[in-house]
Amino acid sequence: MAAPGTPTPPWPRTDGLAPALARLGEALDSVLDRPPGTRDAVDAREVWTAALTRPLPETGAGAETTLEELATVVVPHGTRLADPGFWGWITSGPTTLPVAAATAAGVVGGQRYTITAFNLLEEQSLAWLRDLCGLPSDMRGVWSSGGSVANLVALGAARQHAYERHGMDPAADGTSGLRPAVYASSEVHHTVQRAAGVLGLGRRAVRVVPVDGRGRMDVDALRERITADVGDGVTPIAVVGTAGTTNTGALDPLRAVGEVARQFGAWFHVDGAYGLPGILDERIADRYDGLELADSAIVDPHKWLNAPVGVAATFVRDRSLLVRAFTQEPAAYLESIAGEDHLEVGHSLEAMGVPYQDMAVELSAPPRGVVVWSILRELGRDGVRARVRADNDLATRLAGRALADERLELLMEPELSIVVLRYAGDPARRLDDDALDVINLAVLRRLRRETPWLPSDTRVRGVVALRPCFINARTQPEMVDAFAAEVRRLGDELADATAADLVATRR
Ligand SMILES: Cc1ncc(COP(=O)(O)O)c(C=O)c1O
Repeated sequence: MAAPGTPTPPWPRTDGLAPALARLGEALDSVLDRPPGTRDAVDAREVWTAALTRPLPETGAGAETTLEELATVVVPHGTRLADPGFWGWITSGPTTLPVAAATAAGVVGGQRYTITAFNLLEEQSLAWLRDLCGLPSDMRGVWSSGGSVANLVALGAARQHAYERHGMDPAADGTSGLRPAVYASSEVHHTVQRAAGVLGLGRRAVRVVPVDGRGRMDVDALRERITADVGDGVTPIAVVGTAGTTNTGALDPLRAVGEVARQFGAWFHVDGAYGLPGILDERIADRYDGLELADSAIVDPHKWLNAPVGVAATFVRDRSLLVRAFTQEPAAYLESIAGEDHLEVGHSLEAMGVPYQDMAVELSAPPRGVVVWSILRELGRDGVRARVRADNDLATRLAGRALADERLELLMEPELSIVVLRYAGDPARRLDDDALDVINLAVLRRLRRETPWLPSDTRVRGVVALRPCFINARTQPEMVDAFAAEVRRLGDELADATAADLVATRR
């Protein structure tokens, strides 16, 4: 029964979500349906910049006008990241369901706390993702905004673990009691160094261990470095293994790296931000051998699972360690609902649910679990596996094209869905690496400007590489063939100019 004084619907409202979302959906679909590569041609930058740049309005334009501006000026001039030919970085366009789920979370999800379906899905989606990625079943997680924060949270747990073993609490008292070190390969994502800085360990506490010819951590060098440090009075806090490096998709030998970490009593963290879902591809699952040794692991659904940007998980075996590392201390304004007891309360606002606010660095945060839940509910393990396999197949296909074309060079056998290759020129007129670097950078610029194919670049063994990363669910195999053909065509054109001319053109 309604409480006295409760108004009855329809109550006054200024807009309706259904027509607004329908209009927006139509605008988004029309952008996504445009043939790849035509996105930038809609209007010159001056046109949309002029249309959007204005002083703060004193009088509002109203919902309808604003929505139309969003649909006709903002949306068509967004990023090319969602294009099926965008293969730069490790980000791509989200698929439909996670976009719908994120929208729902923005409207009735609100905060991730209190006893709601969204709160329940936080925990359930973490457990599903853990199981999907083959992580140990005793691991529990917490969501955050991306791999950067997820690595920070994991290393926060590692720091807490190491200091507590020496009777210290670094979260409360700071880190001056030990000389800490973290070990990671030269291919580790640089967010690990930043996390070490933020955690008060210092960026220089990250010891960079060399890699072998395939981009994998050299385990003997790791052991030697830790042995030398320990002899010097340094405390090894953590060893970071990467399951899918950002540059080439390489996997560190997890078992060997994990065993060295154990030998020295260090925490073993696995950065699987990109590559952990690769374990679903049975053809390469053995490359993840030793994953069960991990004390913590991260995975970013906004990479290989095609969630919209802003969702990553950190998993640890003991979340109470996270609470000691990240507790935000009691707050008077939360006192009446603090607590985790969500089974016995009747009303959503009577308890916070799982206290995620004490396990990482955010208090206010959207429910992110619903986004990942929607992906896994839609596709199931088999559906995600099919996508991962298809992406790995694209990489194998492109590697095959490069090997078959004497003017292309495959710089490393792909381990996952990243390929590193370059235009290598006519074998009869072999150019040196400096000239090839200039040509390949010029190829990249022309690919960006003139074609739908958008890889990024990196350096492999000192030379410039084109680096497509296949994680976009809309990429088709023929696109990969067209890309290989374009690299060859543009490379041939550019090779006709001298390296010196190209250097001059760049200035
Ligand atoms: C292996 C790895 N770790 C961490 C990150 C950082 O993730 P994010 O960009 O989500 O912060 C990336 C980003 O590409 C990555 O590839």
